[in-house]
Amino acid sequence: MALSRLLLFVLLSSYYYIAHGGHRNGFVVVQTRSFESKSLCSASTTNLELGRASVPVVHRHGPCAPSQSSHKLSFAERLRLSRARANFIMSRASNGMVSTRDDDANVSIPTHLGGSVDSLEYVVTVGLGTPAVSQVLLMDTGSDLSWVQCAPCNSAACYPQKDPLFDPTKSSTYASIPCDTAACQNLTADRYQNGCTDGGAHCGYRVEYGDGSKTRGVYSTETLTLAPGVTVEDFRFGCGRDQRGDNDKYDGLVGLGGAPESLVVQTSPVYGRAFSYCLPALNSDAGFLALGAPRAADTSGFVFTPMSHLSDTATFYMVTLTGISVAGKQLDIPPSAFRGGMIIDSGTVITGLPQTAYNALQAAFRKAMEAYPLLPNGDLDTCYNFTGYSNVTVPKVAFTFSGGGTVDLDVHNGILLKDCLAFTESGPDVGLGIIGNVNQRTLEVLYDAGQGKVGFRAGAC
Ligand SMILES: *[C@@H]1O[C@H](CO)[C@@H](O)[C@H](O)[C@H]1NC(C)=O
Ligand SMILES: *[C@@H]1O[C@H](CO)[C@@H](O)[C@H](O)[C@H]1NC(C)=O
Ligand SMILES: *[C@@H]1O[C@H](CO)[C@@H](O)[C@H](O)[C@H]1NC(C)=O
Ligand SMILES: *[C@@H]1O[C@H](CO)[C@@H](O)[C@H](O)[C@H]1NC(C)=O
Repeated sequence: MALSRLLLFVLLSSYYYIAHGGHRNGFVVVQTRSFESKSLCSASTTNLELGRASVPVVHRHGPCAPSQSSHKLSFAERLRLSRARANFIMSRASNGMVSTRDDDANVSIPTHLGGSVDSLEYVVTVGLGTPAVSQVLLMDTGSDLSWVQCAPCNSAACYPQKDPLFDPTKSSTYASIPCDTAACQNLTADRYQNGCTDGGAHCGYRVEYGDGSKTRGVYSTETLTLAPGVTVEDFRFGCGRDQRGDNDKYDGLVGLGGAPESLVVQTSPVYGRAFSYCLPALNSDAGFLALGAPRAADTSGFVFTPMSHLSDTATFYMVTLTGISVAGKQLDIPPSAFRGGMIIDSGTVITGLPQTAYNALQAAFRKAMEAYPLLPNGDLDTCYNFTGYSNVTVPKVAFTFSGGGTVDLDVHNGILLKDCLAFTESGPDVGLGIIGNVNQRTLEVLYDAGQGKVGFRAGAC
């Protein structure tokens, strides 16, 4: 009898422990060195999905970058570029109605066409031409027209890059686009400064980015090879003959936005205006970029939410947040605080939340992290001094999207950046927010414009 009572007590108390340990489940112990990127690449291609056209994605400054840049950006500089990009996107998204902040006043932009090139952090390697030569391209969901630097081009007009310049004369499939085509006429003067005015037979293009960098050249078609045997014929891109900007060795850019010039829209007859990517974790190697949506049977791991677009520009992809939780606890944020919508962008680093949501998140996160010293003058407003800690206990952060689906951010990679909460305030509640790329790490993000939805799948790379 005494024994069974003891047993009952043991059972009951372990039940109590499990049931009331619930709040602990909202936290994860993280080794602080997992916040640092490692220096050696050990990429494998196991993440590549069979049956879809996919290419590896690596961080431009990470261990698997195809070329290491000679000038490493400081954290403060990366943040400044990310802010400039976010400001650009918001100003373009709202037709110049959003004012930029003082320190970025020189990056104010309505006339430009792309975000800050230098803030783009993820690159893919593809093949261009016949025979295909490899090209390292920045991946950009916030712009549409793709381009590479083309030969001939002297050092004043093209910046140094890792690969030899793409030489159209060595490709049997290259053609310039004539002026009297719909593709060229779409590059209207206010958007890409279509250069058919030089009396030429060739269609000119020009893109200026928010950071002052630019590219100009001949709008062309070429065979694009995504993977062995997976090609896009007559892919329209800019053969760049005059570039300004940083000297960072990438060969060009691939635009994944929603307007007609983008790779995604050009390949829509085959891939249905759908693509996905997984941005790799700091400590891992390659993620992937895939065209097309997974087969319906393979979408069980995804949380979906409706996709929306801005009325004035087809480029950006939007979703609507309805809630945020920290450590498993839903924050008290009225849904109206999210009514401006969130642009989801591969190139913005830090997520910008409207004021009410940001304040609630910041307060709850700081409370959950109160064991650790806040840095008074961090690069962002919630940065910690983890000196002396080999591990820290970090609260889970989850987004709830319109439709009710909830997505947990990856605690090791998706919440903190350089020991700072990777969020900032984007402005008043009526305005837009942006979901940046730190939050997206290790998730497969599926942009399915054909089906009008965005999906998230955890632990995809
Ligand atoms: C902006 O540009 C002006 C004039 O070109 C310059 O004086 C000022 O220092 C710049 N501000 C920043 C923050 O770069
Ligand atoms: C030109 O632009 C229109 C309107 O956006 C679009 O429907 C059409 O597909 C575009 N054509 C080409 C060849 O880009
Ligand atoms: C961080 O904490 C360590 C150990 O407590 C201290 O020595 C150091 O000065 C702190 N660093 C900053 C930037 O506050
Ligand atoms: C966290 O760090 C402490 C002290 O360095 C160590 O004793 C403990 O085992 C670590 N916990 C985990 C889960 O790694």
